[in-house]
Amino acid sequence: MILIKNIKLLVQVEQESRDRVAGRDMAELPVISDAFLYLKEGVIKDFGPMDNIENSDFFGEFSAEETQVIDAAERLVLPSFCDSHTHVVVAGSREIEYIDKIKGLSYEEIAKRGGGILNSARLLQQTPEDSLYEQAMGRIEEIMMLGTGAVEIKSGYGLTVEDELKMLRVIRRLKENTPLIIKSTFLGAHAVPAEYKDRQNQYVDIVVNEMIPRVAQEGLADYIDVFCDRGFFSVEETERILEAGYKYGLQGKLHANELDYSGGIQTGVKYGALSVDHLEFTGDEEINALLNSSTMPTLLPGAAFFLGMVYPPARKMIDAGLPVALASDYNPGSSPSGNMQFVMSLGCIKMRMIPQEVINAATINGACAMGVENLAGSVAREKVANLIITKKIPGYEFIPYSYGSDNVDKVIIKGEVYDK
Ligand code: NIG
Ligand code: FE
Repeated sequence: MILIKNIKLLVQVEQESRDRVAGRDMAELPVISDAFLYLKEGVIKDFGPMDNIENSDFFGEFSAEETQVIDAAERLVLPSFCDSHTHVVVAGSREIEYIDKIKGLSYEEIAKRGGGILNSARLLQQTPEDSLYEQAMGRIEEIMMLGTGAVEIKSGYGLTVEDELKMLRVIRRLKENTPLIIKSTFLGAHAVPAEYKDRQNQYVDIVVNEMIPRVAQEGLADYIDVFCDRGFFSVEETERILEAGYKYGLQGKLHANELDYSGGIQTGVKYGALSVDHLEFTGDEEINALLNSSTMPTLLPGAAFFLGMVYPPARKMIDAGLPVALASDYNPGSSPSGNMQFVMSLGCIKMRMIPQEVINAATINGACAMGVENLAGSVAREKVANLIITKKIPGYEFIPYSYGSDNVDKVIIKGEVYDK
């Protein structure tokens, strides 16, 4: 049993858990000041104001020896972040392209030269599975100590049947061996391999006829993704791939509208995707499509920041009544950071979201965008005990405000405490 007592502010508490928050409700962040929190067997059991602790069913249930007490005076406790879009299984990094970018080449120009995703794919194909696993584990440990408690991870740097399966097996090993909540997404249609450059259709055939059945047979993915954008995969190709995935029960989570008004958002909505992600190019038509759906718009401002491109219109989307989730997109080409605290800062500074909105977007809405809203994303009874204990800070607004700082002091994952 763990008791966290004297918590200055317990953030994102729910008496009854919600699936997500949208529109004006995103500005509401339920908190309890001077709070207690009981955790048992990896699960949140009870919480409330310190004044009330003696009325808790768990008060005095265990002896002092059986209870680990953490005094969180002057500290905040939040649910861990749910990072619903990452590519942390990848071989190496791409800082050379970063220099090309600084010198003026665009993301698309680098991709056209055979760099970008294809560069990572070449390296991944030559990298043994164990090495990929070790590298990814390092990234997982890094983001966990920055406050992430649930993470979605995509394939998409394999681009052959065997290499896509290799990536997904690495994700499965991560699921088995890390305490984080992990969901895996098959992204065979991330880029067209160089040898299929003038016969993209044949690559889509491989995705549909060979990759998807194998991935499904081996139970290696929870979701399916397509990079539906200018220069990558068209709406028609995306529909073909989604239909093939849906036959095996793989729900969509699309890369959409990063580079243009690609139709990706409408396609995701049409197919009941769990989320559509990126959304830099979102206008009224796209907003209207999303308003009539349960698809979670997921914004990845780290990519716009790193590539120096336009940001998604978060303010307009929330003002129109939409929910918004924030994720890191941690990947070597467009967002080589998995720091959700910084992503929240970008949400505030670059997309005019207020602190309550970015916290909702990084917790409950992130959980919804990866289908774990019943397990994570808020402080609610019977949810998994995945929590952040902050350093001594004045309030939750300080987290996005102090951009680049790490405000996390300890994390609790499945009821285990990890100190920095
Ligand atoms: O989400 N947009 C497509 N895919 C990744 C980038 C991957 C890469 O460049 O390695 C993204 O930004
Ligand atoms: Fe991505």
